[in-house]
This record gives sequence, C-alpha cells and structure tokens, in this order.
Amino acid sequence: MVVSAHPLASEIGVNILKKGGNAADATIAVQFALAVVYPSAGNIGGGGFFVYRENNGHCSALDFREKAPLMASPDMYLDSNNNVVKDLSLYSHLAVGVPGTVDGMVNIHNKYGQLPWVELVQPAIDLADNGFELTKREADKLNRFNKRNNTNNNISEYYKDHYLEGDSIFLPQLSTTLTQIRDFKRSGFYKGEVAQMLVNEMKINGGMITQEDLDSYHSIWRKPIISYYKDYKVISMSLPSSGGILLTQMLKMAEHYPLRDYGFHSLKSVHVMTEIEKLSFADRAKYLGDPDFYDFPEKSLMDSLYLLKRINKIKMDSALLSSDVHAGELNLKESEETTHFSIVDKYGNASSLTTTLNGSFGSGIVVGGAGFLLNNEMDDFSIQPGYPNMYGLVGGEANSVEPSKRMLSSMTPTILEKDGKLFMVLGTPGGSTIITAVFQTIINVVEYDMDIDQAVNSPRFHHQWYPDEIKMEKGIAKDSNLVLQLKAMGHQLNFVSSMNRVDAVVLKRNKLFGGADKRGDDLVSSY
Ligand code: DON
Repeated sequence: MVVSAHPLASEIGVNILKKGGNAADATIAVQFALAVVYPSAGNIGGGGFFVYRENNGHCSALDFREKAPLMASPDMYLDSNNNVVKDLSLYSHLAVGVPGTVDGMVNIHNKYGQLPWVELVQPAIDLADNGFELTKREADKLNRFNKRNNTNNNISEYYKDHYLEGDSIFLPQLSTTLTQIRDFKRSGFYKGEVAQMLVNEMKINGGMITQEDLDSYHSIWRKPIISYYKDYKVISMSLPSSGGILLTQMLKMAEHYPLRDYGFHSLKSVHVMTEIEKLSFADRAKYLGDPDFYDFPEKSLMDSLYLLKRINKIKMDSALLSSDVHAGELNLKESEETTHFSIVDKYGNASSLTTTLNGSFGSGIVVGGAGFLLNNEMDDFSIQPGYPNMYGLVGGEANSVEPSKRMLSSMTPTILEKDGKLFMVLGTPGGSTIITAVFQTIINVVEYDMDIDQAVNSPRFHHQWYPDEIKMEKGIAKDSNLVLQLKAMGHQLNFVSSMNRVDAVVLKRNKLFGGADKRGDDLVSSY
C-alpha cells in the first residue's frame, strides 16, 4: 500500500511493489514521481527525512536534509543595522540550502534497494516526457503561485501562466535532468552538466552554492528516536529534525492524563494537549539544532522525570501564558509545503518519508536549463535570535546559520509498533504543525479508537508556544462549547481553514488500512 499526496505518485509506487520491489524501492520511485507531478513540494532540489522499519524489526533513519553553503554566515540575512532583510531567506538565491534529495535516494537504494535503480527513476522521466494531467487543486495552486511570486522567481519560464483542470504538462528539461540521475546516480546531479547549471544559476544571481558545496554534500544515516507510549513503540526522526524528540515529549507528557476518559475534542483533552504542545515548543526553540555542530541534550529532554516536572506547570482550569512558559532547566552534564508518504510492502517492510522545498514551490527559483525548483530551506534557521521564521517559529544560538550546518526541521516521519509488530506508518507536511498533527493522529487512533481514515481527517488544533494562540481548524465550530470554554480558560484562538495532509497506513488483524487526507488530492493505492 502507498499513501501519498498525488494519485499518479501513489500508482507508480504500487506498480513498483507489484513488480516485487520493496518499500524502499517504492519510496525512491514515489519521491522522483512527486518531483514531477507535485512541484510545490515533491523535489530533487530539496531534502527530507526517511524512517524505515524492516520486517525483522530493524529500524533506520536517513537525514537527507539540506545544508547551509560553505560561504554562509550567521548574519547573512541582516543589513548593516542588524535588521532582517525581508524575504532574503525565503525568496532569493541566498534562501537555497544545498539539496539533499538525490544523494538521499541513492543512499536508500544502496542500503535497501531490490530493483535496479534505473527502473525506479524511469517512471518519473516518463511522466515528464509524456505529460500528465493536472488535478483541479494542482492547477489552482500553480495559478496562485504564478501570481504570488512573479517578481522574484523564474517559474513562469517553465510553467504556463494559467492552467485548467485536465491540462497536460510536459517538462522536457526536468526529464533530461532526471535522465542524468537515472544514468549516473549521485554524479548525475552533484557533478557534470546538472551541477554546472545549478552553480551557474547561483553565480549569475548572487547565490552561494558552489561545486565544492555539491561535492561535500552527503546524506547521513542517524539513529532514529525510539520511545514508548503505553504498549506502543514509537520510531521517529532524530535531529536535525526536532520531530522525534518533540513527539516523544508530547506523548510522554500525555501519558499522565486519562485522555481516553476525557474524550476526543473534550475541553480537558484539548486544553491539556495544547499546554503540552506549548511546553515542548519552548524547549525546541532553546535547545535544538544540527547535532553535527553541538551536543544537544536529547536524552535529558526526553527523560521521564524531567517531563513529569514540566507538566507540574499545567493547570487544569486555566491556560498558561506563553510569556510564563520557558524552556526547562536541564542538567546539561550529559553529553507552506512539504509532502509525506507512507508505504508498506508485501514483505512487511515499512517506509515513512517526509520531503520538502520548505515553502510552497520553495524559493520559486528553477535552475536555468535543468528545469527543477530549488528549496528555500535556509529560512528554517533562526536567522536572528527571536525572529520568527515563515512558520512563526523562533530560535537562538542552537539553530543559527553556520557554514555546512543543517537547519532545524519539524518533519516527523514516524512508525509505530505494537507487540513487536508493525502497527502504523504516518507523517505530514505543515511546518511547525507537523509535530502536533502526528501527535494528535496517534492519540486519535490509540486513545479514541478511530479508524485511520477518521483519525487523519478529523479537525486538528496546534500550539507552538509563540505566537500565544491555538491554531484551530474551522472544522471545529467557532460557536461550539469547546471553543467558548477554551476562551473562558484564557486560550487565544486563531481559526485557519486547513492544516496538514496526514498520510498513514495502519496494520490490523494482518490487513492494511490506508488513511489519505481529504484536505488534498491524497490517495491510498494498494493491491
Ligand atoms: O523542515 C521543516 O520543518 C519545514 N521546512 C517543513 C515545511 C513544511 O512542512 C511545509 N508544509 N506545508
């Protein structure tokens, strides 16, 4: 079964599984297919995180996150008065981190691949060559994007000004680039013509990425974060994503409250989960960043006693003000568009992968001649202490810009086991809201006994410490008792139309059940 953000990508993944490929093979094919049919987030010019569980229970995690270029510096987004220059970390050539996706896919294939590499890249090339039809959502998204960014992107050279549902798109330059990747793997992207076009794109337009940056980029196998929630083993992404650590914190704090008795979207459960989310995000801002640069206090942050102390702050009858919430005191002696897909193969291997250009269509910059979009992941750094990034997240020293450093992420590809067996695979886009959406989807299934479709499609809420507000999906009625009572407790509410697109698989009684998020075109494809 494959659950992804685009029907064509889900189909390609399932075809690979039918041919005898495993979940890792399908992962690679889906990632490349999304780079063609889902350009707002699918990518070869971005990065991501991959969590894998083999059928023998062995787990791994791959970090193919972008890196800051070698020439990057902490004040690169500040003017001479130390003020942040608007949009420089978002919509300029300086917004681009060194892409990690292609190296990541090669690394996954080297470790787990069963089918030949060529067969995994070819379906994406075919889509780019033969064209594919736009869904209504995708047509609207491209139209909106063209309008939004015409001043500082060159996407209109590659995509038409206006699309209708059912229009076909052909992407010949992207096809040529993918063909290089098919034939030369890593070298097809980080060396040769494609690399040269990328470096030229940077040189001509004041960007920083050089051939040396491309040569020195390597994705890294990391130890996944493993924790327990009641009978469930939770396997999730480690730093430089904050996802696994924060998810662990939230679940471990939640374990102290009878959420099942409180009930789904009851005042008590929403209040408690909101307060837990606040406490976790305060720790994120202070303590987390790229583990290759500092020793981060991961273990202390996930320590049960520490978390028990943290929840002492929670009051059951009123909301904590964010200004009264701070990162915990640790004993430090111890050393707007992403996409997720979940895959389980017939052998019982499971893959959970979240990948992104950061913002929708990333920096909006297409590499001249090479036809692929570049990320604007540099904005995930804390570009000035306390200055919010595009998701409103704040940070400090731990996540400051440094040469070759990876920017802190919230991506949370996750796998759950129950009684030693695969139970659930899930993840989502949504910047900072990723972590809380994964947290709530797990609670929906485990505590509120929802089937996966319902769990994924229920309305969600989100608090990230700052700004001091609960973002609440409009599916929760503004005049509901829940909302009125939350306000009475002192919570600030901000209603948003939709958050996240959670794509998940659950294995129950030896059967697979898919949950595709109806907020998008997401599709469960299986055989
Ligand atoms: O790594 C991160 O946390 C962000 N760059 C993810 C961006 C994202 O999820 C956008 N989706 N709507």
